[in-house]
Amino acid sequence: MTPNDREQKVTALIDKLCLTRKLKRSEWVTIIRERTPAAAEHLFELARAVRIHHYGHDIYIRGLIEFTNYCRNDCYYCGIRKSNANALRYRLSKEDILTCCEEGYRLGFRTFVLQGGEDGWFTDERLCDIVSSIRAQFPDCAITLSVGERSYDSYKRLYDAGADRYLLRHETYDEKHYGRLHPPQLSASHRKQCLWNLKKIGYQVGTGFMVGSPYQTPENLADDMLFLAKLNPQMVGIGPFIPHHETPFARMPGGTAELTVYMLGLIRLLLPRVLLPATTALGTIAEDGREKGILAGANVIMPNLSPAQVRKKYLLYDNKLCTGDEAAESLNHLRERMEKIGYHITVSRGDSLNI
Ligand code: 5AD
Repeated sequence: MTPNDREQKVTALIDKLCLTRKLKRSEWVTIIRERTPAAAEHLFELARAVRIHHYGHDIYIRGLIEFTNYCRNDCYYCGIRKSNANALRYRLSKEDILTCCEEGYRLGFRTFVLQGGEDGWFTDERLCDIVSSIRAQFPDCAITLSVGERSYDSYKRLYDAGADRYLLRHETYDEKHYGRLHPPQLSASHRKQCLWNLKKIGYQVGTGFMVGSPYQTPENLADDMLFLAKLNPQMVGIGPFIPHHETPFARMPGGTAELTVYMLGLIRLLLPRVLLPATTALGTIAEDGREKGILAGANVIMPNLSPAQVRKKYLLYDNKLCTGDEAAESLNHLRERMEKIGYHITVSRGDSLNI
């Protein structure tokens, strides 16, 4: 096949995905492996049209509160893995967290995302107390948790305490690939089981994966797309892998913005109404990364509401965007940047339409 034939084949697959929302595994592999800049441009045009059809030019914001960087896990890619003795560990108190929410609420946030490492200090009792306090003080807000793998019973208790959404990236579908990114105690199957449990309980679920993680192949990404189709989550978070200097993957190459935005476009076509963030990691590897993400079909941004003094400690990867800007200042910044490309930050809860 000539390069021109390949480009036509990929473009035809993009059209097929847009129309039918279904591709075979081999087609996913082709659409990813054989992509060209012209095919990508075509994809972004379609993805934008689909996004605008469902969501107009609105961008939803979620206030991210990174409330603990203690973690029992030792993921090979992550800067807050337990073996990183140089990480400066911190935990926010319930009062600190509520203060973040108050500040966020004043700024127009109606979703709070409590994200943290898998920190044993936050027992069900402590976490439920925090969730129910936020629920009582902010009845009109969505509470999203992102605290890793827990038991069915624990997820249920947190849901009953008032949490309504949960983010847990599956990281990679393939067991073997998963095994190359994680220590043997962790498994892809357990992680997926957590996602099914969360769904069953009634959470709106977000999953996702890193793009360009070590040893990742187009086949792995194809499996990730098939998994997304099967799980049908309300939200999908993807971002480039970025090496962290104090991890086993310090010298591994990072993922690219180019492939990340391409995958965003594909996800928009696969799950037309999904909530799709232009992530901090994407904004970290490319100055205009978040704009590119929005223009490829993303519709969510998750600004940091954590107190300025702890932001520099929640470092999953190197060079993370964590300006000293106050939350208000950075929100204004973001608003201006998005207006420049014709999009508007909105304050609605932005519940996914497909639940
Ligand atoms: N580069 C990019 N993303 C990372 N994450 C963790 N470490 C890194 C890294 N080095 C992502 C994982 C996790 C999410 C909270 O952050 O996908 O699920």
